[in-house]
This record gives sequence, structure tokens and C-alpha cells, in this order.
Amino acid sequence: MSQLRNTDSEIFQLIKNEEKRQKDVVRMIPSENYTSAAVMEATGSILTNKYSEGYAGKRYYEGQEFIDEVEKAAIQRAKSLFGADHANVQPYSGSPANMAVYHALVKPHDIVMGLGLPHGGHLTHGWKVNFSGRYFTPVQYGVKKETGRIDYDELRDFAKKVKPKLIWAGATAYPREIDFQAFGEIAKEVKAYFAADIAHIAGLVAAGVHQSPVPHADAVTTTTHKTLRGPRGGMILCKEEVADVIDKGVFPSLQGGPHNHTTAAIAVAMKEASTPEFVEYAKQIVKNAKALADELLSHGYDLVSGGTDNHLILVDLSNRDIPGKVASQALDRAGLVLNYNMVPFDTRSPFNPSGIRLGTPSVTSRGMKEEDMKFIGTKMNEVMSNVDNDDLISKVKNEVTEFCSKFPIPGLLLGE
Ligand SMILES: Cc1ncc(COP(=O)(O)O)c(C=O)c1O
Repeated sequence: MSQLRNTDSEIFQLIKNEEKRQKDVVRMIPSENYTSAAVMEATGSILTNKYSEGYAGKRYYEGQEFIDEVEKAAIQRAKSLFGADHANVQPYSGSPANMAVYHALVKPHDIVMGLGLPHGGHLTHGWKVNFSGRYFTPVQYGVKKETGRIDYDELRDFAKKVKPKLIWAGATAYPREIDFQAFGEIAKEVKAYFAADIAHIAGLVAAGVHQSPVPHADAVTTTTHKTLRGPRGGMILCKEEVADVIDKGVFPSLQGGPHNHTTAAIAVAMKEASTPEFVEYAKQIVKNAKALADELLSHGYDLVSGGTDNHLILVDLSNRDIPGKVASQALDRAGLVLNYNMVPFDTRSPFNPSGIRLGTPSVTSRGMKEEDMKFIGTKMNEVMSNVDNDDLISKVKNEVTEFCSKFPIPGLLLGE
């Protein structure tokens, strides 16, 4: 980083500050992680200098002999890791990957079905303020009030009634395993395309810790930077029958030149994700999430669906009378970083909802285990029971910093 320090000390210093923050706090935002140094080196490489609109062997610019090989390696590794017929590694991120699927499989105003945002779905699955809710006709399903889970019989009845052209499975705040096979069968029954968005759980799917949608879905989209632990990016896996429309849905329908430095880093992340160590990592993410959920339950917290099967926990604080935002801000002051979140059937507003959302991908990347989750859960409870007690929060912050010093962050590249 010496070049950056000399050229732009302001940005250098801000990066250093963020590095220290990432070292000193317990990061539990479930969509975040720590990439490896190898992934960051590829991301920071000279591949950022190259334009390469098109696909390997069919580009609109010269000088592609090495870029083509990089993209082919990323595609090959993605196909083999997930057992897919075809992969497109060019989407700039998760939202563009989803938009490309809309471009490929449906037309404007078609009926599209997805999990509602307040029930854990993503903006791009048909939420009204998003392109997906504005340019298509969204119908949104939810989870059952009593269980906090998707009810597949109700889903089938709903799909038969509304006859969507495209059904999305996948979520941004759903703590339970998704039955992709059931989704696939329902989509077949109603003659809809089925797209699965595994942005959050891709690492768990790659490691075989969560069932894979690949055999059941026409298209599977993902980000590459959450549990998969790669660079900020996106990817689409699909069946051979739709490969051509999916590729065209990305380029030229949506994007221009692919971000080749990201493509290289995705290839590196896929290589890392195909190792036995990554499988252990993914298993530990789930073990840690269960241990943290158990600790929170033992302190009387109400968890949506009663617990977790994956990397994520959604805590409903309605019975504690602390709004999610108050809790998340107090926790942040104590170095316990997560986000406030709507819970299903929330009576509060999205800007000050009843829940908090947390997860274990980052803490697991630092090597934390079940006993460490007990410490984190205990400290969370201390803070959430004393949100106005600044002295106690400062004391917890010191304990958290001391605790974090035992777990070096992966991928640390920056010199002093
Ligand atoms: C399920 C799901 N899909 C898509 C996305 C969008 O990804 P991005 O923020 O990279 O556009 C997210 C982001 O959190 C997500 O949770």
C-alpha cells in the first residue's frame, strides 16, 4: 500500500481505519465476510485495465488471449463446484445477475412471484420500489405466522391461482433451509420458470451443507462475496436449454465490459471453495449459528422460526420492547456489529423495525468456534439489556476488542 499512501494519504488512511475496525469488532452482518489475500491480490491486479465486451472467443476488442483463459477458468470452476451445465461469471453483482435473469426469461409486465421483502425476500424479487416491482407485475408470498417458514402447500395453491411466468426462491433474511425441489415441482406444475437466488447461502450449497437448487432450477443466481467468500461479484448458473438467453441477458442486454479483475478473483475463490478446508468452514458456519442461536434463546430472545438451519439468525425483539435500531446501534457501540431488520408481520416501520439480523460467515472465517459464540451471545444480552448504560457498553467494547485480538483477520495485506 506504499504507493497509495504516497499518492492519496486521505484514502490510504480511511482504508487503514476500516482495516482496524474489521480487526477490532465482531462482524455479524450475515452478507459480509473476509476474503483471502489471494482473492484480494487478483481483485487488485492489472486485469482491471482490460476491456473485453463479449464472451471468450467472441469479443469486440483485441488482445484477449489471457482474459479469455481467465474467464474460461472461472466458468469451468463454477460449473464443476456447483455441478451446473452452464455458468456466466460476468454479472457485476447479485442485483444485476437477477436483472439479467428477468431479461432472459420474462417480458415487461409479466407476473413474477417472489418472497416479500418484509418476510425475508430481496428487493430484486419483486419489491415495489425496485425495478423488479416496477417493470414486472409482482406477486409476493410470505412465511407462515405460526412457524416463520414457507408453507409449500400454500405456495402451490397461490402459484396455481396467480399463474406467474417466473418464480423466485431465495432470501436475504430466512434462517431455514429452502426446499428447492418443492419450488421446482411447483414451477413445473404452473409452467413457470424457476430461478433460485442463493446469494446468501452459496458457500453452504457449494460445500453440500445446504441442498442445491441446481438440479431443480432453470437459473441459479448468486453473489460471490457472502458465504462463498470471493470478491464483490455475481454469477448465474443455468441449464443448457437457457444458456444462450442467459448469456444474452447479461451481455448485451444489461451490461458492457466484464470486470476482469473480479472474474479472476471469482476463479480464485472457486478454487478455494473446492477444498476440504472450505467444506469444514461451511459446516462450522452452521454449527456456530446454531450455538449462537441457542445462547440467545437461553437468555429468552425470540428467534424467527425458533432457530436456524443456516448461517443466519433473525431475532424478534417485540417481546423485549427494544426496537431493532436501538439494539443494533447499542451493539455497534460495543463492537458487536449487525443490522436492524424487519421481522415477518412486523408492526413497526422498515426504518425502525422490530428485529435484528445476524450471521456467522465472518466470525467463522476468523476461526471462532461454538464456545466463542457463547461469549458473543452473552455480551449481546448484556448490551441489549442495558442499551442506555454507556459505562457498561464501554466495558463490553473493551472486552470485545480484547476477544477479537485472539482471532487474526484473514486476508490482511496492509502494512503499517
Ligand atoms: C438474496 C439476495 N439476492 C441478491 C442480493 C443483491 O446483491 P448485491 O448487493 O451484490 O447487488 C442480495 C444482497 O444482499 C441478497 O441477499
